[in-house]
Amino acid sequence: VSEVELLGYRVSVGSGLLHQVGALVTKAAPAHRYALITDSVVGPLYADTIMGAMSAHAPGAVIRYQVTAGEERKTRDSWASLTDRMLADGLGRDTTVLALGGGVIGDLAGFVAATYMRGIPVVQLPTSLLSMVDAGIGGKTGVDTPAGKNLVGAFHQPAAVIVDVAVLHTLPGGQLRAGFAEIVKHGVIADAAYLDQASAAAAYVAGGTASDETLHALVLGSVRIKASFVADDEREAGRRKALNFGHTIAHAVESASGYATRHGDAVAIGMVAEARMAERMGIAPAGVAERIEDILQRASLPVALPRDMDPARMLALTATDKKARHGVVEYTLPAAIGQMASCDGRWSVPVPDALVLEVLGAMR
Ligand SMILES: NC(=O)c1ccc[n+]([C@@H]2O[C@H](COP(=O)([O-])OP(=O)(O)OC[C@H]3O[C@@H](n4cnc5c(N)ncnc54)[C@H](O)[C@@H]3O)[C@@H](O)[C@H]2O)c1
Ligand SMILES: [Zn+2]
Repeated sequence: VSEVELLGYRVSVGSGLLHQVGALVTKAAPAHRYALITDSVVGPLYADTIMGAMSAHAPGAVIRYQVTAGEERKTRDSWASLTDRMLADGLGRDTTVLALGGGVIGDLAGFVAATYMRGIPVVQLPTSLLSMVDAGIGGKTGVDTPAGKNLVGAFHQPAAVIVDVAVLHTLPGGQLRAGFAEIVKHGVIADAAYLDQASAAAAYVAGGTASDETLHALVLGSVRIKASFVADDEREAGRRKALNFGHTIAHAVESASGYATRHGDAVAIGMVAEARMAERMGIAPAGVAERIEDILQRASLPVALPRDMDPARMLALTATDKKARHGVVEYTLPAAIGQMASCDGRWSVPVPDALVLEVLGAMR
């Protein structure tokens, strides 16, 4: 088991760790009752393992709640219904939430915990690669609204994060690739050697044939990188913005596709686009975009803008992104592989509309 300390809590990474959650959870977040919140795909696969592992340490203390799987359920309605069910079951302040699932459950159950009786502890048990390397760590929780994704939420740091890479064997390939896009992002923004490691594993991860050792090493590397940004800048005032690399264009791609394009695929396209912008602005040396593109391609991730996406419409969509302030769209750009451009400590820079149009046009 590998451990990373972050803002006073511990992220444990290992293979087979779900069988040890009893000891880990009761130590990190001892409680009278535990609300295990999961979804309809992950629940049938892993909830019994958790119930069994908890029973020796906290007999009869776990109540299980299941939500239909899918982003469509990351809503205030789901939040309200989970909260009401917990209240009806008489759960008090001395309850800990166990969030077992991908990023949807992490965000939703995390938000339930953040608000239940003004806040109770949550232990994150991320089961998708994306949630292991991204959503499960950092303390952002929340739900979607008709006006947009993640618009209602709270910062609520978990009491612990327990990552069992063995569960990745049941994760569909498309979901593995989605998580891998964020792994590539971590390498680009922080660590060239880690990007080499990701590059070597790209085809195996995408094909679902990566060994537990490889997955362990990759997840651990990403957790360390994300943790270092989060610890520096818990509420995203500065350096943490680097984690948005590729995401301004990604959000426009997702939105332009009516959310038919998966987040990881959109991030892959976004990273190539934004790296090209960095090169064109003289912020990054030539070759950075090509290197990113090569790794993504070997992981079967897309690197071109779908033909039906009009660059002018994409540009308009970037202006409505949360990160646009006063109508000026700011990008977080790499200065090199492993290093983001600080831009005098602002960690973001406005990119001229004409350049955005040109780069996107060339990527169709
Ligand atoms: N809080 C943050 O900082 C943060 C960061 C990034 C993303 N997110 C959020 O995360 C969400 C996306 O996360 P996601 O990609 O994990 O989506 P998800 O939770 O919907 O999981 C994807 C699918 O995989 C299934 N699944 C998960 N683990 C599995 C496993 N081990 N075996 C088989 N199936 C499994 C899920 O049931 C689901 O059907 C989005 O809502 C996004 O906004 C949050
Ligand atoms: Zn992302």
